Parts: sequence; structure tokens; C-alpha cells
Amino acid sequence: MQGLANAAIRQGVVVHPHTPVRAVDARQGIVTTDRGQVTAREIVFATHTPKGINLLQAGMLVSREYAVAARLRSGDYPEGIFWVLDPFHSLRSYHYQDERYLIVIGEKHKTGEHHADHYQQLRDYLSAHFDIAAFTHQWSAQQYSSPDGLPYIGRVHGHDHLYMATGFAADGLVWGTLAGQIIADQVMGSDSPWAARFGARRITPGKSALQYAKENATVTKHMVKDYLGTAKLEDFDDIVAGEGRVATVDGEKLAIHRNSAGELKVLSAVCPHMKCIVHWNGAESTWDCPCHGSRFDIDGEVLEGPAFHALERKYNNGDRQG
Ligand code: FES
Repeated sequence: MQGLANAAIRQGVVVHPHTPVRAVDARQGIVTTDRGQVTAREIVFATHTPKGINLLQAGMLVSREYAVAARLRSGDYPEGIFWVLDPFHSLRSYHYQDERYLIVIGEKHKTGEHHADHYQQLRDYLSAHFDIAAFTHQWSAQQYSSPDGLPYIGRVHGHDHLYMATGFAADGLVWGTLAGQIIADQVMGSDSPWAARFGARRITPGKSALQYAKENATVTKHMVKDYLGTAKLEDFDDIVAGEGRVATVDGEKLAIHRNSAGELKVLSAVCPHMKCIVHWNGAESTWDCPCHGSRFDIDGEVLEGPAFHALERKYNNGDRQG
């Protein structure tokens, strides 16, 4: 990523890191950020999933997957990539400078349905099969899977100058590269041989109907369960250090987190995208939305997903601010 960014900058591209986009007016060609506006003839959502509300999000399966890296004390690092159906782990080794690492990936679940210490489960899995000297790294990633298994790349429905690339599942390097080619061709006004196959307007009802039905059922389930079933909280002191919890306080759904220093941060639990209720993700200390995958940090700022805006801030250290 840094190599690509540097190559683009050398060609005269201007990159604005840490500048969240809050609105896109594709008809006027205006992108509004926290630091001002950018005008552009062509706008590309290179954002993993299109920002804002898009019908495609209704059929997208959004999931998170975890990875742990370790160094071995003895034994062989695997040569190649191995998929183990137990029910699923993938194993590979990685060379960096003079070190070798063993990497395991797995513990996939729908975003917003975090139920266990997924990193610990991966560490336990490696320990059961290898002689581990040290665990060195851990991380997680989000995947968007389309109903027919192929990504959506190209013009956003109803717009001639707005583009997106989403639904890469776990194969972002391959599909991201292809997306660069298709979208560049479309921006330059030339025909892309791949545009129809990957276009957002393709219709594959046979393959897609079941996943559309399932993902809409997921949204409905969370809407009903989370709005009706969130426990009441009488006292913020009930939230212990390190805990994040969604609770109803004075009739309002709140996302409450106390950090290890005892500081309390309270946000609205209502996702600004389409009003689902966010869930706590203890592995990453984030608030994740089960409906379309928006994720927010403990200050409520958007980390990823279709939401443009942060979770509304309600209290800090228990003092009502607004
Ligand atoms: S991501 Fe769509 S409602 Fe939260």
C-alpha cells in the first residue's frame, strides 16, 4: 500500500490521510470531508463497501476473520498454504528479513456477532499442533461476500461518474487489481471486456435469492432483537474496566465502554447508517454493526463500512455533555 501510494504521489496524486469523508454528492462532483471539500469529475469508492445506502448491501454477507502469527521452537514451518477443514483453518509460513513465522487464519463469524476470545482460540489451535516459541502478531480483517460469489466492480447504479468495488470476500489482492483495471478503463471511456461480468447491474436471481433472503432476515432479526431485547442498566458503575456493553438507559440505547484506566465513554448505540444497534467486539475493542458491517472505535469514529458519520457521543467519564 505504501509503495502504491508513493508511486501515485510521484505521478502528482495528492493523498489526504486521516481525512474522513462525510458526504458525497456525485451529481455535483463534491466530496465533503472534515477538512473541506474536494471537487472531482469521477469519484471512486475504494472503500471495501460503497459508502452510504446502496441496495447491494442488502445481499452482502459481512464477516470478520482472525489471524495469529508465531515463531516455532522446533519442527518444520509448512511449505505452502494449507486449508484444514476442521471446520476451517488456513496455515502458511511467512519470511520477513531473517525471521520465519507460522500464520493461522480462522474463527470467522458474521460482523457484529462476536461471541468468544477468537485470538485465544487460534493460539490454542497452534499450540495443539506445533511447538510454539512465541506468539508475535495478531490481527483481523473484514470480508464482504456477494450472493453469487463474484465482486461488484464498476459504475454505481444510476450514476455515470461514481464507481465502486466491493464483494471481494477473502481475495482482495486479486479482485482489487482487477477493479483498478476495470474502473480505469471506464474512467478513460474505453470498453472493458470484464465490465459486464462484474458490473453492479448484473442479475443472477437463482444464485442470489437465498443469500438476499438470509441477509435480510439477519437485519430484521437484529432490528427486532436489539431494539426490544437490550437489558436496562441502572448504574454505570456496573460496567467494569475493559468491558463494553449495549444497554438501555432512560429509554435510550447506549454503547458504553470503560477502559482499563476506568474512564467511561458512552455513545449512542444506534448506527448512523440505517439505525441498527451496534454490538461490542471485545477482540478489537470496537463497536460493530451486524446489519451491513460499519465499525466504530471507542470514541465512536468510523473505522470502516458504509456509515459516513460517527456514533453520537453522549457522555465521557459519566458527565453528561449534551
Ligand atoms: S451498517 Fe447498516 S445499519 Fe449499521
